[in-house]
Amino acid sequence: MTVKSVLRMGHPLLLQKAAPVTGFNTPQIDALIADMFDTMAAQSGAGLAAPQIGVSLRVVIFGVDRNPRYPDAEPVPATVLINPEIEILGDEQDEMWEGCLSVPGMRGLVERHTHLRYTGYDAQGARFERVAHGFHARVVQHECDHLDGILYPRRIRDFRLFGFTEELFRDAAIESAAVDPS
Ligand code: NI
Repeated sequence: MTVKSVLRMGHPLLLQKAAPVTGFNTPQIDALIADMFDTMAAQSGAGLAAPQIGVSLRVVIFGVDRNPRYPDAEPVPATVLINPEIEILGDEQDEMWEGCLSVPGMRGLVERHTHLRYTGYDAQGARFERVAHGFHARVVQHECDHLDGILYPRRIRDFRLFGFTEELFRDAAIESAAVDPS
């Protein structure tokens, strides 16, 4: 299909609450998902939300193979998640450096819940649920935030820990701990 340009922070569509998908297996939804995968692959992202390519619908994709770009990130199954719902499991949270294709060149330290269950629909419209933890749970939270108009900088608690990747990670040993969900 098509590699789309990714909207950047400041574009008003990224602040909107996206609308639920009401019909599955339509040419429009199938094309949207194909474009999202092509765009995510072209940018080496770990995930992408439909609003990032200008479509205000509740569709996210994510997936990470073992990848030298994310040496500390466990693999995440390639997933299409439509109309997602998240249930947080337990109180545990952890911090990790996040990036976003809509906030290019920057990273921030973000606290997220470490365990959750997500439920939604796959590309064929079949309902499914999964329990996720760690990096997988972080990516789901980051992507689903996009559907509510939230970009990760709003989750940063200490703005001293937000900046340009090249400046933050002059020490290559620290860079290996940084991830770039989408
Ligand atoms: Ni993002």
